[in-house]
Amino acid sequence: MSVVTTEKHQNILVIVSNNPPVNALGGAVRQGLVDGIDEALSDDAVEAVVIRCDGRTFFAGADITEFGKPMQGPNLGEALDRLEASSKPVVAAIHGTALGGGCEVALACHYRVAVPSAKMGLPEVKLGLIPGAAGTQRLPRVVGAAAALPMVVIGNPISAKQAHAIGLVDKVVGEDSLADDAIAFAREQIGKAPPRSSEGTANEDGIRNPAIFDEFRQKNGRKIRGFEAPEAGIQAVKAAGELSYSDGVAKERELFMKLMTGTQSAAMRHYFFAERAANKIDGIDPKIDLIPIKKVGILGAGTMGGGIGMNFLSAGIPVTIVELKEEALERGVNVIRKNYENTAKRGRMTEQQVEDAMSILTPSLSYDDLADCDLVIEAVFENMDVKKEVFTKLDGIVKQGAILASNTSYLNIDEIAAVTKRPEYVLGLHFFSPANVMKLLEIVRGEKTADDVLMTAMKLSKQIGKVAAVSGVCPGFIGNRMLSPRQEQANLMIMEGANYWDVDDVLLEFGFPMGPFQMSDLAGVDIGWHRDPERIETLRDALCAVGRWGQKVGKGFYDYDEARQRTPSDEVKQIIAEFAAKAGKEQREISKDEIRERLLYPMVNEGAKILEEGMAQRASDIDVVWINGYGWPLYTGGPMFWADTVGLDNLVAGLEKHGLPVADLLQKKAAVGGKFNG
Ligand code: 3HC
Ligand code: NAI
Repeated sequence: MSVVTTEKHQNILVIVSNNPPVNALGGAVRQGLVDGIDEALSDDAVEAVVIRCDGRTFFAGADITEFGKPMQGPNLGEALDRLEASSKPVVAAIHGTALGGGCEVALACHYRVAVPSAKMGLPEVKLGLIPGAAGTQRLPRVVGAAAALPMVVIGNPISAKQAHAIGLVDKVVGEDSLADDAIAFAREQIGKAPPRSSEGTANEDGIRNPAIFDEFRQKNGRKIRGFEAPEAGIQAVKAAGELSYSDGVAKERELFMKLMTGTQSAAMRHYFFAERAANKIDGIDPKIDLIPIKKVGILGAGTMGGGIGMNFLSAGIPVTIVELKEEALERGVNVIRKNYENTAKRGRMTEQQVEDAMSILTPSLSYDDLADCDLVIEAVFENMDVKKEVFTKLDGIVKQGAILASNTSYLNIDEIAAVTKRPEYVLGLHFFSPANVMKLLEIVRGEKTADDVLMTAMKLSKQIGKVAAVSGVCPGFIGNRMLSPRQEQANLMIMEGANYWDVDDVLLEFGFPMGPFQMSDLAGVDIGWHRDPERIETLRDALCAVGRWGQKVGKGFYDYDEARQRTPSDEVKQIIAEFAAKAGKEQREISKDEIRERLLYPMVNEGAKILEEGMAQRASDIDVVWINGYGWPLYTGGPMFWADTVGLDNLVAGLEKHGLPVADLLQKKAAVGGKFNG
């Protein structure tokens, strides 16, 4: 059956797309839309048209899998011009998510009706693009430049209610009566001159007040730093006010094509599919029966335990949190409440939602209260003996069939699982700090972890809004394991004469939010310090001994002013020089290029080893880990994709030049001009 069909309801022609899973606008769909409009125009009995989709959503955008391939059938822009030019009114009937090209279809229609749960948006920017079917020109003409800017430049979808408020949706209709309500609405428009978005005048707000563009740039500076598409989006929306419609469309095309052929968009499209691929586990049927998780237990209400618990509370899953002492328990619960209240203060939660979340939290000092949990996550001290003791105890108390997870950062999950009588129900759930904020969840698959246990964890991660990636059992798993060669090189280089601020700046310029020494200042240089100022064995000991404990005391590697601006410190330079002299390290100038190569190439090399050992299923999973857990810049596609763009032969040459080891897999791939991805 054709993906686009038509149905006649007396004088209304309904064009229906059915292209699962998300009605992406592939060639056949575009052709179907054009044919549908032709049919409506050539049939005198038809007086108005409705476009709607079957399945879970209105068109969710262009078909991303077609990008970079020769175009089949009409391009979307042409198809939409035909649609808008129709002399008979055309109504978009929206449910699910009208995204990207789907939102552009809706914009080209003369009217838009939507169900309350529908969302609309232009997420192209998240793929390193801007809308390419006149969305940047039609949208401002309908809703104004000020309302169009966040949609085009940030790309978050808006609700039907918000869309109605800004004039993007004409009517919000019944949740369960979209098809009928849209037909009735279309009937009301018969005989009226169809309003065309390309002729709208709301865009004049940007001419009256051109300052909005700069203000927007400034307000979102941090969010869009390093990305090319947001600036192109601002320019396109601005052009919608300054240029004629057709010149504006030409401008959009020019900007769009430049982005489409660039590396950033290729990287971000890679990431889009990487995130989805990471959900799939080779050799496990995605339809496997899952273990219902109705109640979660958390052990330890420290830095991690509280944040981990919040994820479940926010998703409406009851949590029991267990601590050793009343004081620690109280502190942990208070932090949870405070975090929620701060979110409410910023308007991102209602008071009621705070109370709802807190009402399903049960603090306890007894392990026995974990007995009926379906999943217990342990977040106690990072010490194998403690973990073993805790798991032995949990195994005896928590009901059979329940999952026992550890949040350990480095320890061996198999060794932990071995103390229980249910190793197949044990796995690692490695959250990142702050656990209620960071998107990444590394799921550590033990040697004996059962398939349904693993898939339950994957599913659960989606439910709590995390991006999951599976790692095998190895020290530091995927993320921390790759961090360690970077840290090692950073420490070595500052002893060889590199400026520590250059090391940070190189990573900052690459697109990381901060470098290792800034990170150390932020976390606290004194974390894990033995607290004896007389005992100076490491650089850290030396800094701590003179009170350079980090940002919290105004000085660490850097000196900080009241605005927390950092300046390199002469005292620290001196301390490093003394250490280097004592170690007999020869000093030389180290270029930023060398710094970048020595920081990043060994990470990719470690990634290659992780793949070689089968600790990650695929290179793109590693990209998912580093982008979501460690601030690796999305627009480079993650370490493994980035390595492909650098060229694996260049990488090998770089590692050899710096006297660093080269993994077999990397060597092999480079020798045949291969890539990690594709
Ligand atoms: N093209 C091709 N495939 C797509 C797709 C698209 N636009 N959107 C989703 N898919 C695929 C996914 O890869 C996934 O495939 P898989 O099952 O084989 O892994 C499947 O559809 C289901 O997707 P999700 O797992 O993401 O399903 P969800 O229900 O969680 O989310 C969604 C649905 C909100 C629509 C989400 O898929 C999404 O955000 N899609 C992308 C939307 C987008 O970016 N649109 C803009 C495209 S660019 C464009 O339109 C350019 C235009 O201006 C010219
Ligand atoms: P923390 O020291 O802040 O909290 C641990 C809590 O566990 C303390 O409140 C302690 O009272 C409690 N506790 C200890 N033994 C207990 C027991 N037997 N029963 C109940 N409660 C007990 O430690 P943090 O930072 O939260 O780390 C916890 C785990 O998470 C560690 O395994 C750590 O490696 C891991 N982790 C930490 C990250 C971080 O950034 N802090 C990031 C990712 C993982």
